[in-house]
Amino acid sequence: MGAITRRFRAEHGLVRRAAACLDRIADRIEADLSFDLGAVCDLLRYCEVFVDDAHQRCEEEVLFRALQRRTNMAERIGELLREHVGERIAIGRLRRGLAAAVCGERSAWLRFAEELREYARQQLEHSLKEDEVLLPLADDLLDESTQADLDLRCRAIERELGLERHEHLLPRIEEIARQCGSILPQPSLGAG
Ligand SMILES: [Fe+2]
Ligand SMILES: [Fe+2]
Repeated sequence: MGAITRRFRAEHGLVRRAAACLDRIADRIEADLSFDLGAVCDLLRYCEVFVDDAHQRCEEEVLFRALQRRTNMAERIGELLREHVGERIAIGRLRRGLAAAVCGERSAWLRFAEELREYARQQLEHSLKEDEVLLPLADDLLDESTQADLDLRCRAIERELGLERHEHLLPRIEEIARQCGSILPQPSLGAG
């Protein structure tokens, strides 16, 4: 495993943990139990600044491009790109759904919970597809020095975006994950 695939595997652990938290909150909304509204807002913000702005941008501008130059995977990469667009649209829908629920009836909360569950499912399936198909291929095709170079390009993108935009949210996400229960999947940061 090289630097770029290690990076994305670790990030997918974080993506799945945030998705699992959103799924737990959907459970509580549907069961009419209390839940932390601030946690929902912080998770949505984290999904925007970390998943959409940083993680997916690094995949699109660095990893996908590198793989497209070396394989005939245009169709598979096109599918992943469409899923990225779908996830960004879904975040907008969640924001609107949350605003409607806060000012609305219980039925609006139930619709919001359904959207949360769908978003969490999309993130889980997408990240697993990348872990199981794309990253093993990247390990086969990209040697260690190429992976290190691609990792540096991701770091440059993060610096341009301002790494603190999502890093300062990490302790809060840790806290929310603890609130959501101990059986959440643990991200394997820095594994390998
Ligand atoms: Fe992706
Ligand atoms: Fe990803």
